[in-house]
This record gives sequence, structure tokens and C-alpha cells, in this order.
Amino acid sequence: MDTREIFCKNPVIISDVKAWAGNNLKNAGTIEVEIGFGSGEYLLRRASEHPDRLFIGIEKKPGMITEVSKRAESRNLDNIRLIETCAEDAFNDLIPSCSITRAYSLFPDPWPKRKHNKYRLFTKAYLRLLNNRLVSGGEALIVTDSEEYYRWILKQTSDTGFELENGPIPPQFDTRFERKWIKQNVSTFYRIQLNKAEHIEA
Ligand SMILES: C[S@@+](CC[C@H](N)C(=O)[O-])C[C@H]1O[C@@H](n2cnc3c(N)ncnc32)[C@H](O)[C@@H]1O
Repeated sequence: MDTREIFCKNPVIISDVKAWAGNNLKNAGTIEVEIGFGSGEYLLRRASEHPDRLFIGIEKKPGMITEVSKRAESRNLDNIRLIETCAEDAFNDLIPSCSITRAYSLFPDPWPKRKHNKYRLFTKAYLRLLNNRLVSGGEALIVTDSEEYYRWILKQTSDTGFELENGPIPPQFDTRFERKWIKQNVSTFYRIQLNKAEHIEA
């Protein structure tokens, strides 16, 4: 079965349709995208630290955009747009080529069972799509708790137009999942920084 059938049953929900319609992503200046923002701590923090940038959060779990948009509103953040759908659809349908400066995914679902590996997000095809959506010199950051998923992603990176910086890192993002791992005495995570070196046509 196609993973899109499994994960993209929900219609695309955009937290603020009017604000989204007013976006011209090609001319919006610096755009950062968080894939799988969960409870949104990192996205909200980045958006309040960089009021001059536009932040797009993508999360497939139903309901999270309501919760996070309430928090954005209570902090008077008007530089966040939230989309409830899966990242594959958002990148294919809503984000134009060469439009985003920085993308990140903190603790993406690792799908550890071999028979579930096919559901992993950061395949070669997805990394090529990500490359296409980044501006020249743009970058993507993936941080995972799973050393096995980390090694698997590294194997996907050939022919994706990225130069890599990678290795183990200590906790530093203070997200719900990072705190969950710290509580379980996990203090080493794995970072893959993908720097766009060459444009990939998608
Ligand atoms: C392990 S949680 C991490 C959440 C958050 N980044 C954190 O650090 O607390 C992974 C999140 O990614 C979301 N997710 C998984 N696959 C996704 C996809 N294909 N598109 C969008 N979100 C996805 C899940 O719903 C979940 O909220």
C-alpha cells in the first residue's frame, strides 16, 4: 500500500487560510519550515526569536495545529503558518521550488521495525524534493534519537545535491520528545545537517 494512502487521509487543513492565501512564498523573505512540529515548542521559540522571518509548521497528527496556533496567538506571533497534512503532500503541493531557507525535523518517527522502514520520511526521493524546495545555499537539519535511522538516512543522501555535516550531539532543543528521551537517560542524539550544494530538478 502506498504510504500516502495510509498517512494522508486527512484533508489539508491550514490554520489561517486568509494569511496563507496572502503569502507569496517566492517573495516572503527568509522562510523556515518545521516538519513534524508536534507540540510546537521549537517552532514557537524560533518564530519569537526571528520576527522578520516566516515560519511554516507541518504536522500530520490531527489537532496539533489548533493547540499550537492558540499558543502562537497568545504570544502575538503573526509570522507562523501551520498546515495539517503530511510533509510529502505539503512539499509537493504547497511549497514552491527554491522558496525556503531552512527546514528542520526534530525526532522524526524512526519506524524501527524493518517491515515498517518503507514508512520512513527521509528517503532519497524526499531528500531530492527537499533540495528542490530550498533556496540556493539553503539547509536542512534532521535530529534523531535512533542511531539506526541516522545511518539509514545517511545512506539515502547520495545524489540529493547536499553536502553533509553529521555526528552525535547532546540534547539542546528542549522539545517534548527530547525531554522524553532525557527522562529515559538518553543523552546522545544524531544530527544530519544537509547543506544545499547543487540544485535538483524535481
Ligand atoms: C516523535 S514526534 C516529534 C515531535 C517534535 N518534533 C518533538 O521533538 O517533540 C514526530 C512528529 O512528526 C509527525 N510526523 C510524522 N511523520 C510526518 C509526516 N510525514 N508529515 C508531517 N508530520 C509527520 C508526527 O505526527 C509527530 O508529531
